[in-house]
Amino acid sequence: MTTLTKKIQAIKGVRDILPPESELWNGVEQSAREVFGTYGYGEIRLPVLEATDLFRRSIGEETDIVGKEMYYESDPPLLSDPKFAAGWQKLKELAIAHDPSLGSMTEHDAILVMTDIRKWVLAAFTSMKWSIDEAQANLISLRPEATASVVRAYIEHGMHTRPGNTKLYYIGPMFRRERPQKGRYRQFYQIGAELLGSSDHPALDAEVIEMLMTFFERVKLEGVVLYLNSIGDKNCRPAYIERLRAELEKVRDKLGPDSQRRIATNPLRVLDSKVPEEQAVIATLPRIAEHLCPECRDHYARLKQELALRDIAYQENWRLVRGLDYYMRTTFEITAPGLGSQNAVCGGGRYDGLVELLGGPPTRGIGFAIGTDRLMLSLETANEQASEKAPGSGIEVFLAWFGAEAYAAAVALAKKMRGRGISVELPAVEMKFGKALSLADRLGARYAVIVGEQELAANEITVKRLADADQKKLSEADLLAYLTEAAMATKAGVTKAGHGTTKAGS
Ligand code: HAM
Repeated sequence: MTTLTKKIQAIKGVRDILPPESELWNGVEQSAREVFGTYGYGEIRLPVLEATDLFRRSIGEETDIVGKEMYYESDPPLLSDPKFAAGWQKLKELAIAHDPSLGSMTEHDAILVMTDIRKWVLAAFTSMKWSIDEAQANLISLRPEATASVVRAYIEHGMHTRPGNTKLYYIGPMFRRERPQKGRYRQFYQIGAELLGSSDHPALDAEVIEMLMTFFERVKLEGVVLYLNSIGDKNCRPAYIERLRAELEKVRDKLGPDSQRRIATNPLRVLDSKVPEEQAVIATLPRIAEHLCPECRDHYARLKQELALRDIAYQENWRLVRGLDYYMRTTFEITAPGLGSQNAVCGGGRYDGLVELLGGPPTRGIGFAIGTDRLMLSLETANEQASEKAPGSGIEVFLAWFGAEAYAAAVALAKKMRGRGISVELPAVEMKFGKALSLADRLGARYAVIVGEQELAANEITVKRLADADQKKLSEADLLAYLTEAAMATKAGVTKAGHGTTKAGS
């Protein structure tokens, strides 16, 4: 083994979440479980690795996520397949003929370049009697989102045969190779929920949004704004897109390179451009609301009634098109304060047809995903208290012991306390009294329990409440009863003060 001279650090765009912050994350996730549970949702645990094809087909080839942000790999390595190795050679020849610097490409580079030089790849595969699909079938990706995975699982496990709607939620990491900045990471976390079934009743859309807003209330996220739009369906959207494309062509020279490219590939995405110079032009473009078919118009109107019925405030935003292709009709996004430019804390919408697109039976779907990193950032900005907590806090009892006999008794006592749900710090080596109390204090323990040899002989254990130095001597049984009651009172207090908010556990 070689000795490393350079420190290894977390790679760009990923980070560690340490205690006590992780406790706050757990609290928020627990609130989601509780709120979603009351709406009949059950947890689905999904794999982090999926076939790349799943995302290509559902999110869409021309989206940023699939086009440039996915982490993918071939499995098994393509080069170990003699058919691919020959095709690869052909591809290299073609690529080098175009640009000699491409000669040093690795297999991995080639996969990345595939999207750009699809024609050559196609030529290479065609010469091998391979289709792009066959080659792509070998690719696997770290999931960039989980709706596609939920739909894959729904089909794979025949969940459509279950009674009623299928309601699932998930909590976990997602991966996108984005440019990292505040609130934007390459590994980030989502809390999401999906409702799949045969109905597209707008009451379902409204109930999903109600559940989301209830969750935000539960975690005491203030200042949220719900933005709402309808982007039509396969009957009315194509005509609108053509109209939009025609209008965009007329103003092409006023648009930046990204939007210019999107006129051909994905004109809807021009609408959510943030480029300042393009804003005035975008404001003049035709709006989808004026091009909805009667069914979509009716669905959107009824959704707004259903939201009003539930007292849910929203702002309509005709430019809210979302960056994934599977959406139709309802789209929504929620912003929260304290996040700067990455202020969308949640995104979601309806995706009827996605199950069929992935080979399942006709099914309707709606769902959302909350960006947990952003939610925590917003909560923390609102309540700086979180960062003031002592590292490693959450400890109830610091168990100081003096002497070898007392150590054996302390080990047994710690086990008994932990068995009653009390969190205990037991030092592995004997500490001087003053040092033990000072460490107990710095760890944020609420009680110091002191076991000495004399006390042991008298069956008396000293317990000191560190907040006010109140001290008493108790028998072991009384001590356990006293601490159990105190721990229960603390837990109840936390729940009352706002379960799962940044205040939880503080
Ligand atoms: P999305 O809008 O791509 O939708 O992501 C949802 C949320 O995840 C965003 O609003 C944001 O809070 C968070 N997020 C996205 N990318 C990052 C990042 N790089 N760093 C930190 N947070 C991020 C979806 O993923 C859909 N699957 C939502 C959905 C579920 N639609 C229907 N069902």
